[in-house]
Amino acid sequence: MADPPFDATPFLPDRRTLDALRAAAEGCRGCDLWEPATQTVFGEGPKDATFVIVGEVPGDKEDREGRPFVGPAGRELDGALGAAGIDRAEAYVTNAVKHFRFEERGRRRIHQKPDAKQIKACRPWLGAELDLLRPEALVLLGATAAKSLLGASFKLMAERGRPLESDLAPVVIATIHPSSILRGRDGEARQAQRDMLIEDLHVAAQTVARARPA
Ligand code: URA
Ligand code: SF4
Repeated sequence: MADPPFDATPFLPDRRTLDALRAAAEGCRGCDLWEPATQTVFGEGPKDATFVIVGEVPGDKEDREGRPFVGPAGRELDGALGAAGIDRAEAYVTNAVKHFRFEERGRRRIHQKPDAKQIKACRPWLGAELDLLRPEALVLLGATAAKSLLGASFKLMAERGRPLESDLAPVVIATIHPSSILRGRDGEARQAQRDMLIEDLHVAAQTVARARPA
């Protein structure tokens, strides 16, 4: 196999609908991640979604099921969305990178962060999703999603939880990734991370509500 182009652009379809994008993304060979992975994990949710939520990269469970945020991080995300008053059914959920990146250790597949080249290669899919969805609010989960869309110099912990100036959507909020909850060393640390995520999602929900005509 020839070296991948590290650019998904040649794999994007001419016809731009979410279904056409999803179908075309199944065959993406834009970077090196497609080959060891099981399948492309494309975004999902209603095309008139109020919120578009962007994660990093699918995990082990997502890779097997072909759907975003269906594993342990997804359970945290669902809980935090609920606590912040956001119904996951009114959100379109996707990832900055659409194939699972992992390292094999024995029979386990250990998640690895996508590198800058892979994030950049996959960016056209996310751009095409956002062009079609034009959400009221864009929620970026973690530094990878935030850097993919806002630039590599974005400082998550300095900028999280407040509306950001951006052409991407009327409301743009960056927050921690739900998997940082799972990495907390004890219950207290995990709860502190969870509270942060809920607080930031709540800001997103409130900002959307305020931006709507009365
Ligand atoms: N983590 C992510 O960033 N995305 C998923 O879909 C699952 C876990
Ligand atoms: Fe294409 Fe993105 Fe998969 Fe790379 S990770 S092969 S760019 S869909």
